Amino acid sequence: MTTRSITDRLGGLAFGGDYNPEQWDEPVWKEDDDLMRRARVNLATVGVFSWALLEPEEGRHDFAWLDAHIDRLHANGVAVDLATPTASPPPWFTLAHPDALPVRPDGTRLVHGSRDTYCLAAPAYRIAARRIAAALAERYGDHPALALWHVHNEYGTLCWCDHAAAAFRVWLRARHGSLDALNEAWGTAFWSQRHTSWEQVLPPRETQWHKNPGQALDFRRFWSDEIIAAFREQRDAIRAHSDRPVTTNLMLPAYQNVDLWALARELDVVTSDQYPNAPGLDAAAGVAVHADRTRSLGGGRPWLLMEQGTNTVYDDGQILGKEPGEILRHTLGHIARGSEGALFFQWRQSRAGAETWHSAMVPHAGPDSRIFREVTRVGEAVARLGELAGSTVAASVAVLDDPDAWWALGVDGLPSSRLDYHAALVRAHRALWDADATVDFAHPEHELSRYRLVIAPALFLLSDKGAENLRDYVADGGTLFVQHAAGFVDDRMHARLGGYPAEPLREALGIRVEEYRPLRQDERITLSDGSHGTVWSESLRTEGAQTLAAYTHGMLTGGPALTRHRSGTGQGWYLSTRLDDADYADLVGRLLKEAGVEPDVPGLPAGVEAVTRHALDGRHWQVLLNHTPVAVPLPDPAHDLLTDALAQELPPGGCAVLRGH
Ligand code: GLA
Repeated sequence: MTTRSITDRLGGLAFGGDYNPEQWDEPVWKEDDDLMRRARVNLATVGVFSWALLEPEEGRHDFAWLDAHIDRLHANGVAVDLATPTASPPPWFTLAHPDALPVRPDGTRLVHGSRDTYCLAAPAYRIAARRIAAALAERYGDHPALALWHVHNEYGTLCWCDHAAAAFRVWLRARHGSLDALNEAWGTAFWSQRHTSWEQVLPPRETQWHKNPGQALDFRRFWSDEIIAAFREQRDAIRAHSDRPVTTNLMLPAYQNVDLWALARELDVVTSDQYPNAPGLDAAAGVAVHADRTRSLGGGRPWLLMEQGTNTVYDDGQILGKEPGEILRHTLGHIARGSEGALFFQWRQSRAGAETWHSAMVPHAGPDSRIFREVTRVGEAVARLGELAGSTVAASVAVLDDPDAWWALGVDGLPSSRLDYHAALVRAHRALWDADATVDFAHPEHELSRYRLVIAPALFLLSDKGAENLRDYVADGGTLFVQHAAGFVDDRMHARLGGYPAEPLREALGIRVEEYRPLRQDERITLSDGSHGTVWSESLRTEGAQTLAAYTHGMLTGGPALTRHRSGTGQGWYLSTRLDDADYADLVGRLLKEAGVEPDVPGLPAGVEAVTRHALDGRHWQVLLNHTPVAVPLPDPAHDLLTDALAQELPPGGCAVLRGH
């Protein structure tokens, strides 16, 4: 029987990290055992980058060293998340199979020397990856220490080589059926691009000027499917020998090389890695957006934070430290939003190699350090939260997220290069987070009726099905907020004719966009309600909608900028420019009010985050995080699992996990 929940095996939430004992020797391993007990580590990710040791030459495996480490961890009460090492092929592999090295769009073939130096479409790579995955599964598939399989690491490496070209053609034939259909889809009637044989069809490699948008979008989709196929091969090779759950750690932020909705559907448990890219409250908001996205990718199922840093905030080329207390707040930020624990990269900070300066649970300074003391306290806190296992989070607001729309905004020749998909997504989430709303992400084609408010921040591409779904959502009582440049193209990158956005969505919004008018770099316009816009404007007319704010500049003067339309039992809002942050926050606040969305815990001051986890049997827990430097009295004191006592207030920078009553 497949054990789908990893927490069953751990007896509580997971705590631990990537463990790379091959970088160390016996005395350090002994100390690791002791320190892991002290830090309450119960799960270690092993073998992520161990290919060169596990298979020192093609087809010859050496498992003895790994046997010893897994047995040692097991004896020490630490379960194992066993990785397949395929994210870093050893030097012998690239020497034997130079055709499997990745090629950039400009034709440069990369060489060995870093990691991820493979083309996933290269047959030799796929054979080698399946072989090592199967060998590991055969050996460790029912090891009592094994809690989880970790296939690969952060899939997402793309390649433009001839293997990729061949696989792309196979994929295109399956998608389009015929060369005529491909020509039609890619609009090759323009610029004399008509293909008359399949060999003429190429990946979007470096060329003279704009690449074909249909080709660019299809190449993204092709790679996503290729990545998922590569994952499935390893997963299935593992499942032939093992009943333990299988995952791969997703890398979310601005790194969209795979359709994460589709990949997540293949996983027994969704896991992901998170490293904030700004300090302070921005880091906390980064934790929240990451956690909400990961949970949503799994359809709300419990998920697991596979990697975070003890002291790592990437910011503009440097590593910033986390402040005292932040490791716990970030950890609980993930757990609050459905993670079944928290793991780190990595257990012990490397003394050599490419990531020597990346933070760890045991820093270079050793256990006599602030970081290890904090890690120990965080481990104790997580150990107290076992009863949360299996519970999840209920959101009444959704932000729409579609990889096709993301990729569509990455093609050449758009009316503005300042339409940034990821920034728009994060901004919408941030405004909701600041307003204490609990948020899911959803695909535009998903069932949306459980949400009171749905925000579409950047749906430049919208499929017919998505447009119909959004129309129906509004007709059935939902509040939909659509932001500028929405529904401009269909899923082939063909412009919508007769006015934007896509036809059935226009019904829900009661508007018709006739002309896009991007604003100049430094242009900031004022709307009739006093709010300000940048980046973009549109000439639109209402077709039933009410104008809430109008343009006051140039030829758009008097024309609608922000509209609301009542359609069926719901309402569709449309904003045709990019509002300044404060105005945008006000508008989101107004929408939350209109839609009747309340914070999980009303009455908390700004900078205090609260999310509720619900169990199926009705139990619930409020996770409260105080990101401010002052103590905050709790509106509703309750039993705090972290202190095992009644909590009346949150200490400065402190946290509580209150058992519902
Ligand atoms: C990723 C990887 C790790 C490590 C960290 C560094 O998440 O999975 O191997 O490189 O980044 O932040």
